[in-house]
Order: sequence, then C-alpha cells, then structure tokens
Amino acid sequence: MWEFWRSRLSKGKTRHRRRGGSDDDTLSLSPMTSRSLEAPLPDIQVGAAPENSTHVYFKDMIVAASDDSEEESEPSERGTANSGSDARIPRKVRRRNRVDRQKLIIILVGLPGRGKTFLCNKLMCYLNWLGHDTRHFNVGQYRRVQKGAGEVQDASFFDPTNEAGLKARHHALMAALEDMDTWLEEDSAQVAIFDATNSTEQRRQLLRNRFHGKRQYLFIESICNDPDILQQNYRYKMMYSPDYKSTEADKALNDFKERIEKYEEVYETITDRNMHYIKLIDMVTGRGYMDVNRISGYIPGKMVFFLMQVCKAGVARMRKIWLTRHGESEYNERALLGGDSSISPAGQIYARLLPDVIVDRIPLTLEGATMPVSVWTSTLRRTIQTAELLPFPKLRWKALDEIQAGIFDGWTYEEIAEKQPEEYAARKRDKLRYRYPSGESYMDVIQRLEPVIIEIERERECVVVVAHQAILRALYGYFMKIPLSDVPRLEIPLHTLIELVPTPDGRMAEERIPFNIRKSMDMPARTTMEKQFSEMITLSVNREQA
Ligand code: F6P
Repeated sequence: MWEFWRSRLSKGKTRHRRRGGSDDDTLSLSPMTSRSLEAPLPDIQVGAAPENSTHVYFKDMIVAASDDSEEESEPSERGTANSGSDARIPRKVRRRNRVDRQKLIIILVGLPGRGKTFLCNKLMCYLNWLGHDTRHFNVGQYRRVQKGAGEVQDASFFDPTNEAGLKARHHALMAALEDMDTWLEEDSAQVAIFDATNSTEQRRQLLRNRFHGKRQYLFIESICNDPDILQQNYRYKMMYSPDYKSTEADKALNDFKERIEKYEEVYETITDRNMHYIKLIDMVTGRGYMDVNRISGYIPGKMVFFLMQVCKAGVARMRKIWLTRHGESEYNERALLGGDSSISPAGQIYARLLPDVIVDRIPLTLEGATMPVSVWTSTLRRTIQTAELLPFPKLRWKALDEIQAGIFDGWTYEEIAEKQPEEYAARKRDKLRYRYPSGESYMDVIQRLEPVIIEIERERECVVVVAHQAILRALYGYFMKIPLSDVPRLEIPLHTLIELVPTPDGRMAEERIPFNIRKSMDMPARTTMEKQFSEMITLSVNREQA
C-alpha cells in the first residue's frame, strides 16, 4: 500500500522557491491531487499480495512497455481510440492500464562467455531474497533438451547461414518464450529473466513485438573486451557447460571460440536510445562503466545499484565468506530468546578454536600472499566475545543483531506456547512474516540486512560474519538462493563454521566445518584444555586430508 500512496503523493509534489531563492523541499499537494485524494479511492488490487503469499509485491515500476513513439504508432490503439465507453480516457492512460505493471521481463544480451549466467544468478538471488518471485528462462537449456537424435550442436550449428541450425534455435527460443509467458500469468510471478544471446536487432525486435503493450521489459547487455577475463570465462565454460561435458578440453575450447566467432559475425550492440537498457561495459575488470538508458522505477533502480556493487567486486576470485553463529551463550544454555548475554564456557572454547581453523583456510592471492580478512560482528556481546581472538580487523554492525523477539525477549519457546498460545501458533503458521509484538519478523530482518549483503558483494577480501541464528539464516538464504519460505527453518547450528566460496557463475560452493566442543562440568584448566583442542583440530584436519 505504501508504494501506492507514495506514487500518488509524488505526483502532487511541487517545489517552491523561498524568497531567498533556495528550494523548499516541503511536500505540498497540487489542487488536483488534493481533490483526487479526497475522492473515494478506487478498489486498488495492484500491489496487493494474495493471502499467504511469501512475495513482496511492487507497483509503479515506471518502466514503460514501450517508448512514446511506439505508442503513437501501434495500430490496435488507433482502432479503439474513439470507440466504446472509455472514449474520453486519454489514449496513453488506457494503454498503460493494459500493461501488467506488476511484472517485469529482463532480457539479457551478449555474446557467449560474457558473464550472462553470472548476472542472472546474482539477480535471481537478490530479487527472490527481497521477495520478488523471479525465474530464469535459459534458451540454451531448451536447445539442449530439444536436440534431435544425431543432431550435432557444435560451432557449425550456430553459423548464421546454417538453415537447420537457425530453425532449431528458433524452435528453442519459442519454447522458452511460451514457458515464460505461461509462468508470468501466475499471480505470484513477478520478474522473468530471458537468458539468451539476443544479439541481433532482428531478434530483439521479435521480443519487443511480443511484449509490446503487455509487459514491462528492459535489456541488460554485457560487453567484455578484456582478454584475461575472457580467457577465464572460457575456461570456466569448458569446465561446466553441458555442451562440452564429454568433449576433450582443447577441442572444446576451439569449438567454443569458433562458436563465438559465428555470433560475432551478426552481433549488434544496442544503440537505440528509445529502449530501456542497462549496458555493462567491462564492468568486471573494475575499470569499466555502465550505460543506463531510460531506466527508472523501484525494481529497475535497485537492479542498477545492485549490479554496480556486484560487478565492482570483479570476477570471482578465490575469496571466501565464512558465516558462524556466536559461541554458545548463557541464554542458549537456558534456551532463552534474545538478550545480550555473554558466551558460556563451551562458547569460549569455540572462540578459542575458531582462529586457527580460519587462518588455515585463508586462500592465497595469485601472487602467493594470504588474502586479507575482515571480521563483522553484531553489536551484541556474544558475537563480539566470539570474535575476540580472531587476528583480523573487526567491524560491528547493528544490522547483524539478532531478530528482535519484542515482548518475548528473555522467554523460552515453552513459556510462549503456554502463556501466549495464539502468538505461538501464529508464528508456527507463518514464521517468515510473523512479527513478534514490539519486535521483528524474518521479512523485517531481511530488509535490514540488505546493506550487509551489498557490502559483502562489493568486498574483494574474505569476510568472517559472526552473527546469530535468524540473521545467518537470512544471509545464507541469499547466497544459496533458498526459497524465502524455507529461510526461517534453515539449519544453522552452533559451533559450526560455514564456508562459502563464490563460483564464476554467480553461485556459491559450500562446506560446513563442525567443531567438536565437549561440554563438561569438570573441564581441564585452560592451558591444558587449549592444548587438547588444538590436538583435536589437528587430528580432524589430518583425517580430512587423508
Ligand atoms: O535461540 C537462539 C536465537 O538466536 C534467539 O535469540 C532467537 O530469537 C532465535 O534463535 C531465532 O530463531 P527462531 O526464529 O527459530 O526462533
């Protein structure tokens, strides 16, 4: 609803000059807007989330489905301009009403090996995590599935003069488009990423004709001219592309390069300034730039900002992200929610073991030096204490504080179930959206963690995040593309280090390192104990290596 009000209010926002000549930023409504606000509001369905949906609905993205000149020239529009009951409604208004403004199609453009899959995976993680149901339609997958018996899809298949190849590729394109259309008809569907090279004007025109007047769409073109990055992308393609899974490495690489040449023969970069597009030019080198053309609105704007950060970090390097809960706290021992207690003796052991394990796992740079590491904690005692012995620079984030349990802070789950059964049942029913009275929901937590995600994505160094159960569920959910509804129940145990390593296609490889903390009332004295545990770690590392 806020989106709705904001869009209405912003239409009435006028700027007045003060006598001194400076701008007055106060919001005032034009007479017309005041009238329209007094009038009964129409029954607005746009932006309303269906019951039980886990999606965040947006409206008014202001990405027009076509530019103005196209609107003027569309024939069907002319036919209805003066007819029927809506004859007095301006043509442009009627036209906009027909475009589904809750949904967006992102059309990727670029030669093979230009990081389209990386962009796709990153956008999927981000948009789904923010609650916008986003799906990927990869034409290459359709091509592979439709491959006929005996059909060879080597470089010659992609030759622009190969009639059979063109036909098969067109067939795959149409199948992907149809699936995308069907999916977009679903109520919850919001953003579709159409992933193909889409590298000619003719192809893009086909797509525009199809979406024109129905869907909002924008293009994201990825251009890369850096030979080192291209080499790295090609190497990765050879390792993971299903097209080359049973081809010998040299042969595969030659074929892939030949395929790219075929595409280059017909490739046309986007030049039409009437189009809505984001062009990423050599962004992953760290020296590139972005061309943002006719992009406005909430989601597209967020995407531009996000891509700027993600691409700034450059191509995936052997960087690691470690996620860990604080060591067991005194509240954990008593099964109490929230609070700001210190870590327990078992938690202290974890804090002492953590540095060695992390130091051993720091990756090396290309030059052979160990990568810099920084440690991010919440502002709560238990994470600060857990990170105390980590020999790296530390940063405290309020945004990393545990979910606020509001009036139930300091209670146990059993107490809530017994004394406030309705609240207990409500949380059980919808843990993602349930908001503790005077506290937070998981959706609230996700919103406040967005800057943390952006900073991790921007970072080129390794990061250790020492935080809390709900917080790490949300962060892990983002990196591992977990459906939002599953996030509140993810397993994030105490005394377990989660190691995430970015892969070149924008995903994360994961390893979990559980620590064997023995809780005992009569633990040995500190020095002996430390020795025992370091031996234990050496043993387990040796076992792993064996
Ligand atoms: O129990 C530890 C804890 O970090 C609490 O402080 C917090 O309320 C809870 O976990 C979050 O987990 P859940 O959302 O499953 O209750």
